[in-house]
Amino acid sequence: MSNERPTLSVIGTGYLGATHAVCMVELGYDVIGMDVDEDKIKRLQAGEVPFYEPGLPELLAKHIDGGRLRFTTSYQEAAQADIHFVCVGTPQLAGSYAADLRYVESAFRGLAPHLTRRSLVVGKSTVPTGTAVKMEQLLTEHAPADGVELGWNPEFLREGFAVEDTLHPDRLVFGVRTGWAEQQLRAAFAPVIEAGTPVVVTDFATAELVKVAANSFLATKISFINAMAEICEVTGADVTQLSTAIGYDTRIGHRFLHAGLGFGGGCLPKDIRAFIARADELGVDQAVSFLREVDGINLRRRARTVDLGAELLDGRYDDARVAVLGAAFKPNSDDIRDSPALDVATAIGAQGAHVVVYDPHAIDNARRVHPELTYAESLEAAVSGAHLVLLLTEWDEFRTMDPRVVGDLVARRNLVDGRNVLDPLKWRDAGWHYRALGRP
Ligand code: UDX
Repeated sequence: MSNERPTLSVIGTGYLGATHAVCMVELGYDVIGMDVDEDKIKRLQAGEVPFYEPGLPELLAKHIDGGRLRFTTSYQEAAQADIHFVCVGTPQLAGSYAADLRYVESAFRGLAPHLTRRSLVVGKSTVPTGTAVKMEQLLTEHAPADGVELGWNPEFLREGFAVEDTLHPDRLVFGVRTGWAEQQLRAAFAPVIEAGTPVVVTDFATAELVKVAANSFLATKISFINAMAEICEVTGADVTQLSTAIGYDTRIGHRFLHAGLGFGGGCLPKDIRAFIARADELGVDQAVSFLREVDGINLRRRARTVDLGAELLDGRYDDARVAVLGAAFKPNSDDIRDSPALDVATAIGAQGAHVVVYDPHAIDNARRVHPELTYAESLEAAVSGAHLVLLLTEWDEFRTMDPRVVGDLVARRNLVDGRNVLDPLKWRDAGWHYRALGRP
C-alpha cells in the first residue's frame, strides 16, 4: 500500500457517503462507492445524484467519466481498497429515543469477511459512544487478515453545503488506537491537512462524542434563542433585535442564533435524542437532561406557529385555504426528515384547513410521505386564493417575495413569518396582517 495515495472505499452511498465518495475523488483519490441498494448504485453510476445537493451533480459528472470513481453492490469488490469509510445511516429507532445501529452493524459484518490483507476500516456514521469498540470486535472476529484496524472519523457536513464542508472542513477528528491507523488517516486526508485544516487525534470514545456534543451544542443554541422568543412574546420585546444585540459579544456570536420555527432534519433532533438515551444507559442521564428541554422548546415553536395562524383566522382553521411555503427542513435541501414545516402543515390540515404546500425542491419527497396534503407547482399557485400564508422554510424565493404581488393573489392578507426573514414594515405597509415568532 502506498501511503501517498491509498485507494478508498465508501460503504453506504446515501447523503453522507455519496458526498464523501465524490469529494475524495475531487481531492485526488481512487474511490469505490458501495451500497446494498441496487437502484441507488445504478443511478450514481449513471451520473445521477439521488438527492438535492448544490454542486454535487457537477462533481459527480466530472468524475464518473474520469475512471477514478466507481460504484458497486459487492462488498468483495469494495474490500480491495486500502481504507474503508463506513457512511451508513443511524436513524432514530421506532418507539424509542435510541439510534438504530442495524445498518452500521451490517456494514461491518458485510465487509469484514472480505478483508484479506491489512487495512483500515473507518466509521463516519454518527453513533452512540461505545459503538466503535463493538465494531472493532466484529473486525477482530470476522476479518481473515491480521492487522485489520478500526478508526473513527466523524463528519460535520451541513446539507446544502456538503461539498464545501467535505473539501474544506473546519477540523478533522481521528479516533485511533495505533500510530499506524493515524498514519493511514493522515494519508487519506493529505490534501485537506496540507491546506492547514486542524487535526484532533484522539481515542474512539472521544471521537464518537465530538459529533454528538457538537450537534447538542448547536441545538441548544437554537433552542436558547427560541426560548427567548417565548419570553419576547409575553413582554413585547423583539427576539431578532435581542439576537443581534447579544450576538455582537464574540463569546456568543451571531451564528445559530436565528429564532424561528426551530430545527429539524436528519441530524439534530435524532442525535440529541440518541444522546439522551445513551446517557440514560450509562447512568449519567442528569448530565444531559437539559437536552430534553432543548427538544421541548423546539417542538413548542411548531405548536406556537399553528396557534399564530389560527389567531389570524379568528381562532379557527375550518375550511380556510392555507398556503404553506416550504416543505424541506431547511433551504437548499430536499430533505424532509423531521421537517418543522411539514409538521405544521399536517397539524393545520388535521384542524380542518385546506393546506396547499409549495417548495422549490422538496415537493416529491413531501408528497410521498404526506399524500393527504395538496401540492402546488409554484409560489403563485400556492398563494392564490389563500386566507393565510405561512412562510416555514426560508428559501430565497420566499425571502424576496413582493408583498404587493403576493397580496394581489391571496384572498386575505394574513401572513405568519415562521423564520423571521421578512421585513414586517414592508408587509404591513402593503396591507398585510404580519405575525412572526418572538416579535411584537
Ligand atoms: C447539522 C449540523 O450543522 C452539521 O454539522 C451536522 O453534521 C449535521 O447536522 P444540518 O442538519 O444539515 O446540519 O442542518 P443545519 O444547517 O445545522 O440546520 C439545522 C436546523 O436548524 C435547520 O432546520 C435550520 O432551519 C435550523 N436552524 C439553524 C435554526 O432554526 N436557527 C439557526 O440559527 C440555525
